[in-house]
Amino acid sequence: MTIRPILIHPDPRLKKVAAPVEQITPELRQLGEDMLETMYDAPGIGLAAPQVGVLKRVIVMDCVKDPEEEPQPMILFNPEITWASEDLATYEEGCLSIPEQYAEITRPAEVRARWIAPDGSAREEHFTGLWATCVQHEIDHLDGKLFIDYLGPLKRQMITRKMAKLKREKARA
Ligand code: NI
Repeated sequence: MTIRPILIHPDPRLKKVAAPVEQITPELRQLGEDMLETMYDAPGIGLAAPQVGVLKRVIVMDCVKDPEEEPQPMILFNPEITWASEDLATYEEGCLSIPEQYAEITRPAEVRARWIAPDGSAREEHFTGLWATCVQHEIDHLDGKLFIDYLGPLKRQMITRKMAKLKREKARA
């Protein structure tokens, strides 16, 4: 497995709509494994393929935070929300493409999602709590949407300027 570099906002690739996966090839399974490795290394609880520069509809997640608990790595191809609760929940979200910036974002508290597993089988699951927030955040990435897009323009611009500065500093280092 390979840890892939994570794109940092602002980057035009993070604003694009990713293409559906038509067939799960060995390369795409490898991409999923690499994304999990990259996510755990960061560390984070979710990662979408556009964040590693691949404009395909693939996300990975593991929202088990307690190191005593069994990890639950998930690789989802073509994930889609099929139902969302009217109840909302607010979480302080962050993003591996927007390091060290956090904001409270309100989304449906529970969702159902369907996707294709690495073995090609169709899956559907009901997500609650942090998993529900995470799957919505990651699917947003596939549509070129970042959590800061839910914020007002001033706050979003402030974060974008900070990230642009961070990237300039990194490029010089
Ligand atoms: Ni993110």
